[in-house]
Amino acid sequence: MSTTPVEPAEAARQAAFDATIAHHDRIEPRDWMPDGYRKTLIRQIAQHAHSEIIGMQPEGNWIGRAPSLRRKAILLAKVQDEAGHGLYLYSACETLGIARSELVDMLLSGRQKYSSIFNYPTLSYADVGTIGWLVDGAAICNQVPLCRTSYGPYGRAMIRICKEESFHQRQGYELLRTMMDGTDAQRAMVQESVDRFWWPSLMMFGPPDAESPNTEQSMAWGVKRNSNDELRQKFVDMTVPQAQALGVTLPDPALRWNAERDHHDFGEPDWSELTAVIRGNGPCNTERMAHRRAAHEDGAWVREAATAFAARSAAKAGAR
Ligand code: 3HC
Repeated sequence: MSTTPVEPAEAARQAAFDATIAHHDRIEPRDWMPDGYRKTLIRQIAQHAHSEIIGMQPEGNWIGRAPSLRRKAILLAKVQDEAGHGLYLYSACETLGIARSELVDMLLSGRQKYSSIFNYPTLSYADVGTIGWLVDGAAICNQVPLCRTSYGPYGRAMIRICKEESFHQRQGYELLRTMMDGTDAQRAMVQESVDRFWWPSLMMFGPPDAESPNTEQSMAWGVKRNSNDELRQKFVDMTVPQAQALGVTLPDPALRWNAERDHHDFGEPDWSELTAVIRGNGPCNTERMAHRRAAHEDGAWVREAATAFAARSAAKAGAR
């Protein structure tokens, strides 16, 4: 059987998709899209959603030990925001034709990933500030360009998320500022925390461009607007003056201003560490996944109750 009648229609759909991408317009859920584009978005948005949900754990560890009511209220609000970000992102992902329950299954069975950064422990209270300053600072660098991503629901979710991430970054900086104005012991605690989080924060941006299998295609589709290395550089350039203002040292002897490049030079992260963490061998991978699985199982009754309530409401509406 000839397939020729289908081909012109497919070619027209592909041409419409290509034109939308070329004009930097948005692709919406109702629009035709290539399978690879859909798969890439599901992979990236789901990984992003899982990161927000797993990302609640490292700081959640300090809610019960925050040193004042004010600090506790800020931390609670921040961790709740992360849950909200996960939910926006799961919803954006569902517009691509996949159910949230499938995405959660893929996280719990290890078929989808979450950000490497959340596999590091939070050993001191200063880590709450450092995560806000460095980790959320890196997240903002990575995510502001995603507000212009080519897929409408993802870009719109990112606009709201980025506003909240800015608050997260500022509260972290303000916490560290307060500690740096405190005692020698507090200043030492901040420096020790920055020493542990600096390199993992640089790794959040992903492998170097030359070893990033997805960047080229994702940029051609406008899913990503910048490469991993471009964003890493932007983060370093943004963070160095902030570190100077805080009075902390970034633990990289190669870090210096390069007037010719108009950027900071910096040392090479240990990429074998990133690979190990992504493969599940970071300091806290096992603990993070065990905690998430237990939380999911503990929530089974909520999902069952919500399903039963929805069925009863639908039956009542049908009877009326
Ligand atoms: N952690 C875990 N996996 C990573 C990673 C990291 N830091 N960096 C890269 N990877 C994975 C990729 O997912 C990919 O694996 P896959 O093909 O099996 O999915 C592989 O390593 C190769 O990397 P690529 O550079 O080719 O992958 P991408 O083009 O997808 O780029 C990315 C990686 C830059 C993280 C990109 O996916 C992205 O921009 N994602 C959206 C942002 C995001 O997910 N951020 C997570 C942190 S959220 C956060 O910090 C908020 C806080 O408030 C909780």
